[in-house]
Amino acid sequence: MTDTSSAIATFNDQAAGYESQRRRLVPPFDEFYGTAVSALDLAGRPLREILDLGAGTGLLSRRVKAAQPQARLTLLDGAPAMLAEARRALGGDAQYLQADLIDPLAPGPWDAVVSALAIHHLDDDGKRRLFAGIHAELAPGGIFVNAEQVAGPSALFHDVYVAWHAREAERAGVTPDEWTASQERMRLDRWASVEHQLTWLREAGFPDVDCLYKHHCFAVLVARRAG
Ligand SMILES: C[S@@+](CC[C@H](N)C(=O)[O-])C[C@H]1O[C@@H](n2cnc3c(N)ncnc32)[C@H](O)[C@@H]1O
Repeated sequence: MTDTSSAIATFNDQAAGYESQRRRLVPPFDEFYGTAVSALDLAGRPLREILDLGAGTGLLSRRVKAAQPQARLTLLDGAPAMLAEARRALGGDAQYLQADLIDPLAPGPWDAVVSALAIHHLDDDGKRRLFAGIHAELAPGGIFVNAEQVAGPSALFHDVYVAWHAREAERAGVTPDEWTASQERMRLDRWASVEHQLTWLREAGFPDVDCLYKHHCFAVLVARRAG
């Protein structure tokens, strides 16, 4: 069973400086978050209730709200300090839930469930249980979008991803101290490959699943519940 407390505590302690590094630590930042937001168009209808899992300071939620202004966002995260930062930016325009991703999912029906760079903190059983919970709580035709850091399909490609990420982060101006701190955080990550995650999404009941974007270890996985 996943021990989720270390990852949550780490982010809680680093909430204040979190956003200033993200663009440099996530080299394909605009394409990565942009693809996640535009994937919501697959629903083919206006979305009313959207749940953001591991929402942190609201980086993804703010982009979703700009693209889907009619939607009500619910930001779920285990770290209260991250949610406090999110509230500063989004204010009363959203709901905030302090909860652990290993617990049963906040009841829907949700028109969409989104997540960025959070579900990889669960072990593989935890991810599979969460995917089943998301499927159960989505409205018919609802969309799940997971912008994630993923493992390579084999050790060879995993090593390629890690070397690429280090190179790109340095090029983007990540300092040695920032890189060391990010490596410490990543020791708590439980990356899974795109192939495994698409399989688990199908097993959870989603008939339509795909990887809409991938650049080395950064991928956007999308699943739609039957309408
Ligand atoms: C890398 S941050 C991503 C935040 C935001 N989604 C973004 O794209 O910037 C990961 C977030 O997941 C949260 N998190 C990690 N494990 C969690 C868990 N088991 N339950 C709830 N939140 C968790 C952390 O507190 C943190 O805010």
